[in-house]
Amino acid sequence: MSSIQVRPLREDLPFGARIGGVNEATLKDEAVRRQINQVFEERGVIVFEGVEPSGQMQLAISDVFGPLKEHPIKVVARVNSDTMPGVIQTSSADKSKATIVELDGKPLISWLPWHFDHCYNNELNRAGVLRAIHIAPEGGLTGFADGIQLYGAIDPELRRSIEGHNILYRFEPDSEIRFSKPKNLRILHSDPSDVHAIAKTLSRAVHPAVWTRKSGEKVLHVSPWMSVGIEGKEDAEGNQLLEAVCQQIWSKAQPYFHQWSPTDMLIWDNWRMIHCVSGCDPKYPRLMHRTTIRGDYGLGYFEKGGKGHAVLETTV
Ligand SMILES: [Fe+2]
Repeated sequence: MSSIQVRPLREDLPFGARIGGVNEATLKDEAVRRQINQVFEERGVIVFEGVEPSGQMQLAISDVFGPLKEHPIKVVARVNSDTMPGVIQTSSADKSKATIVELDGKPLISWLPWHFDHCYNNELNRAGVLRAIHIAPEGGLTGFADGIQLYGAIDPELRRSIEGHNILYRFEPDSEIRFSKPKNLRILHSDPSDVHAIAKTLSRAVHPAVWTRKSGEKVLHVSPWMSVGIEGKEDAEGNQLLEAVCQQIWSKAQPYFHQWSPTDMLIWDNWRMIHCVSGCDPKYPRLMHRTTIRGDYGLGYFEKGGKGHAVLETTV
């Protein structure tokens, strides 16, 4: 009998699992590691509950899924590059370096629209493992939506229209969402990072709007944030189609919003899920640690044989 306990993330969701009983000892068992990978493949998101809240444990859990993609630049704050390589932090502590938005009249820090990580890149990392260090007393939830569920949920005519198209992406600040920008979103303070200036000089990345997993399931995998158009269809009609798809991502997703506990760690499949952050009052500190699992689904490329820039593979 397995030493870990697996149950659904929530009974009404077609994705996600919770796993209890994970510790250093259980992670040494090859059968447990295989079981966890199988759950990940089938469910797309795993919340590990009741785990030791340490960087070492975050690395030990990450190691179950594959090697880390090291973040190669100094722009991303590393937790401790000697003892914990590959663990990066996203913090709202320094407000001068953060984007602060106002949504429906409320100021929010750490707000992020729906996206998948590294969409502006040709290579798409396999997964991210998140842990909360400072948790806002309200807000600051991380949301997840399933591309398989979305593929089935969007309007059939829209699905037929978008399937077969590729989406163009460019690294842009969260304040510059072009498609399905929420009404009543206002920018109070923009992230002054020079990353955005670098991004403007680079080729755009291209990813299919829909792709098929080894399992045969189709995934609607469109990131409203950073999408700039449809390849070969950068006209009014194409923009209208992408706008409609992005709007349906917001309206037809059956999302899960994770309320963090210090003893949670969470992994998501970056080839299947999209995620967002609900944001919190700027007066609350919010600090997350993340590792990035290396990998690629092999379907992304840069326009005109262009190249990316390691500086962009930062926090999203
Ligand atoms: Fe992200």
